[in-house]
Amino acid sequence: MKQTIELNINGNLYEVEIDQRRTLLEVLRENLGLTGTKKGCDEGECGACTVLLDGKAVPSCLLLAIHAQGKEILTVEGLAQNGVLHPLQQAFLENGAFQCGFCTPGMLLSAKALLNENPHPTEDDVIQAIAGNLCRCTGYTRIVKTILAVAQSNP
Ligand code: FES
Ligand code: FES
Repeated sequence: MKQTIELNINGNLYEVEIDQRRTLLEVLRENLGLTGTKKGCDEGECGACTVLLDGKAVPSCLLLAIHAQGKEILTVEGLAQNGVLHPLQQAFLENGAFQCGFCTPGMLLSAKALLNENPHPTEDDVIQAIAGNLCRCTGYTRIVKTILAVAQSNP
């Protein structure tokens, strides 16, 4: 059954008519063209589809879009502000913390959720925060070091 819903994504309100069974991931990518959020496993295992919902990292492939109404949704498209990359994005770029980049949007958002909650995480905290984000390319070392480096620049 179709329903018109309103989603607050990256500070913008979107009204969209969707089938009630659509996931947030499907609505982001297919209805709204926000393809920065990646579709990997589509079953909650890889973290490629991670977005923030009221600041918390969630796999958007497991969440019905209708249940994201009334929440603040942040996708990778909302990280840069006024053409300036978010410090995490800048650091990933400078430190080569990605190769193919498929996992990167989800990694960035899991890292952001961690730093929202804990601005000064330990290495173990970082490893735990990205435990649900699979990366086939990097071996994780640069990713962990990069997130820690950004955390160290926090006041
Ligand atoms: S696509 Fe959602 S966890 Fe893999
Ligand atoms: S950089 Fe390729 S999957 Fe992580």
